[in-house]
Amino acid sequence: MLRTRFTEEFGIEHPIVQGGMMWVGRAELAGAVSEAGALGIITALTQPTPADLVAEVRRAREITDKPIGVNLTILPSINPPPYAEYRDAIIESGVKIVETAGSNPQEHLPHFKDAGIKVIHKCTSVRHALKAQDIGVDAVSIDGFECAGHPGEDDVPGLVLIPAAADEIEIPLIASGGIADARGLVAALALGADGVNMGTRFMATQESPVARAVKDRLVEASELDTKLIFRTLNNTARVAKNAISEEVVQIESKGCEFSDIQHLVAGARGRKVFEDGDLDAGIWTAGMVQGIIRDVPTAGELVSRMVGEAEEIIGSRLAGMIGGGGAR
Ligand SMILES: Cc1cc2nc3c(=O)[nH]c(=O)nc-3n(C[C@H](O)[C@H](O)[C@H](O)COP(=O)(O)O)c2cc1C
Repeated sequence: MLRTRFTEEFGIEHPIVQGGMMWVGRAELAGAVSEAGALGIITALTQPTPADLVAEVRRAREITDKPIGVNLTILPSINPPPYAEYRDAIIESGVKIVETAGSNPQEHLPHFKDAGIKVIHKCTSVRHALKAQDIGVDAVSIDGFECAGHPGEDDVPGLVLIPAAADEIEIPLIASGGIADARGLVAALALGADGVNMGTRFMATQESPVARAVKDRLVEASELDTKLIFRTLNNTARVAKNAISEEVVQIESKGCEFSDIQHLVAGARGRKVFEDGDLDAGIWTAGMVQGIIRDVPTAGELVSRMVGEAEEIIGSRLAGMIGGGGAR
């Protein structure tokens, strides 16, 4: 058993979190991850209404009675979803852990605190992690430049970002981005993190509710098969390389307004990729870590393999290096 401040303070068996994932973070996956002793997270905005979110948590409760969380991604938008209503639905659902991301969660914190909910805020820089600690979140998750989704605009990879954050942050720290196996878990712990957060790796599991073609693509793809879109709009997103993301990058390279690419990046098209397995139907999120994903296990197999191999790496491979054993 790997014990960290995160496992102790959040009551989770293993220091592994399945990060919020639009269209992917549904009851089947989050429930299976939590049942395996890691922390599964349901993505609030995947549900069409706050009432659907309450029902989704109830569905996950049929799979597990272990701790489970909900992700609330708060992005600035022209027509924002009713964030306060989703927040109230999270509270009503009875979950005790929330992952916030996207922007400052301050206005929601008192509500979560009053309901006894612990908040993990996910961000992409040390300064935002410090700010989150100051406003009273219970843990921070920090995404390096390798990550799937929004890496921010600083371009600092995890190998530097995680220890830089660990030097400053006093609350539990979760390393995120580029982690898929026990090697990544042990490295993150060595860098000063108290646990890891994974997105892409959990998308390639049996319970992940995306088409088999998407999972197969994650296994086949290399670390070179992602694209950074929206760079020129200061809203960078790392997504799978395909005909659409290449076209978006091409249009952006000539200088463009959002309206020039809007038809390509519509969320409904990305959703089609996951539902129909048509890999070029739209933009879909994936990280560089796909280059080291080689199979599609169940979430339970993945978690127990990671924890078992991490113990082996720490207790045997690394321990064997002390005293000149020369172990590999
Ligand atoms: C398909 C997909 C959808 C995602 N959607 C969200 C989201 O809605 N909100 C969020 O905070 N993070 C989202 N993420 C980011 C993950 O929670 C996590 O931070 C990221 O995947 C970590 O990098 P990794 O993929 O290298 O493990 C998404 C990731 C993936 C792969």
